[in-house]
Amino acid sequence: MKHGLLRSSTSINPNIPNYCFPKHSKPQFHYSKHRLHLVCGEGRSSNRTRWTNSNNGNTALLLNDKDASSSSPQALVWEAAQRLTPNFHAIDQLIYHNQGKVQRAMQQFKIGPHHFSGSTGYGHGDLGRAALDDIVADIMGAEAAAVRIQFVSGTHAIASALFGCLRPGDELLAIAGKPYDTLEEVIGIRQGSSNDNDIGSLADFGINYRQLDLDSDGNIEWDVLSSKSKALQPNTKVALIQRSCGYALRPTLTIADIQKAVSILKSHNPNIIIAVDNCYGEFTETLEPCNVGADICMGSFIKNPGGTIVTGGGYVAGRADLVRRAVARLTAPGVGMDAGCVPGETMRLMFQGLFLAPQMVGEALKGGRLVAEVLSAEGMSVYPPLQKIRDDDDDDDEDDDADSSITPPSPFSPSSFPLYSFITAIELGSADKMIAFCEAVQRCSPIGSYVLPVPGVTPGYSDEVIFADGTFIDGSTAELSADGPIRPPYVVYCQGGTHWTHWARVLEGAVGAMRKT
Ligand SMILES: Cc1ncc(COP(=O)(O)O)c(C=O)c1O
Repeated sequence: MKHGLLRSSTSINPNIPNYCFPKHSKPQFHYSKHRLHLVCGEGRSSNRTRWTNSNNGNTALLLNDKDASSSSPQALVWEAAQRLTPNFHAIDQLIYHNQGKVQRAMQQFKIGPHHFSGSTGYGHGDLGRAALDDIVADIMGAEAAAVRIQFVSGTHAIASALFGCLRPGDELLAIAGKPYDTLEEVIGIRQGSSNDNDIGSLADFGINYRQLDLDSDGNIEWDVLSSKSKALQPNTKVALIQRSCGYALRPTLTIADIQKAVSILKSHNPNIIIAVDNCYGEFTETLEPCNVGADICMGSFIKNPGGTIVTGGGYVAGRADLVRRAVARLTAPGVGMDAGCVPGETMRLMFQGLFLAPQMVGEALKGGRLVAEVLSAEGMSVYPPLQKIRDDDDDDDEDDDADSSITPPSPFSPSSFPLYSFITAIELGSADKMIAFCEAVQRCSPIGSYVLPVPGVTPGYSDEVIFADGTFIDGSTAELSADGPIRPPYVVYCQGGTHWTHWARVLEGAVGAMRKT
């Protein structure tokens, strides 16, 4: 669910006229035996997509305009949306709650236009940056937070926190199976494509790693975790919990799961540091990991908390001493929290994106529901399974029946909402189907609808990955996106979206395309 610049050369349609490329970056080509390769030129897109003739046709739009028969993709999508009305209503209540949380924090810390001006150079004394840290700490239920545009990604924020907390001889314990793909090189359990064997991973610094595998249903092995001798070693310093599923067919952990894990681990060792990879978790429930006892959590601002408009950055939030240690890795010991400029309009975008985030997350959750409902009806395996989602919602429906009026949804507890995974996974079973699906998604994107995504090498990932993300911000999967590593069982992970009707249009196109594969 992330991408970066691809290093692989990318095939290109030789018929494409040169004027399709930006003026100052005319691409250069070289020929290999079978293909014409783009070797440099139009930066990011050219690195990961195959350019195609722009009048290649947009199936999705044609379907939308013409085909409304009862078995048409359009009818299927809108019938599904109708069935989801109660779910959408419940998600609106979640938005209502989280929106209130953000608003209150902004009011409490008296955010005003003077916080938007940003800074240059060292960024010393940046009022806005300090205020943003305060409100994110408040929203995250944490003692302190550091939101920094200098975090290049979620992986970078997580790595900074881990390097900040761990010392040579310590053990890092992942309690929810293998962490997300890009952390393998950080931990040192996989060598990167550069084959540098002393790149400065945790392992290179003498930090040990162990993981507790998930059970066959993808759940935490609670029995193993509850046994102190099986779970912990004397040198286990940090327990890492990945909240969202990553590129794995496993459930997103609920806040209730995290609370349970925290209480078990702290009963074994009150000093253990519990770090939560919160990527894609923010605002999907009413509470965040630090509300239930996690010591530090980390995430990306081009995912949930950036509200789809923040152009980069990430955050760490938690115990003040741990946040300081994480930021000392980002900047330098001594420089710490008080530096890091925020040039231009970025600071205003960060406040505004945070304000929009609960709403954007809610729309993405609705889109995910729609993806699951529609593609299940088309006979595809979706994850979380539809039955699971419906069971959870049935509990909710009972409340709805009891009082159908719109009541302010308060107070909330962690269990007030059913599981809302930000990610909806579709098991497609073959690389060709993954590519066909991603092509259909890309065709319905506002940006780059005319390019074909192709699998490619991406920094941090061992497998080739395909990304359909015609987004305004490079790699902003909080905008509508679908992607996945090309490996069995060939799963595409769908996420994001600024309004669920964007997914409606995408699904109309994707269903049409998939029926032809
Ligand atoms: C659970 C999880 N953790 C970490 C990451 C890495 O985040 P980033 O792509 O911002 O480095 C991802 C990316 O999709 C993820 O899904």
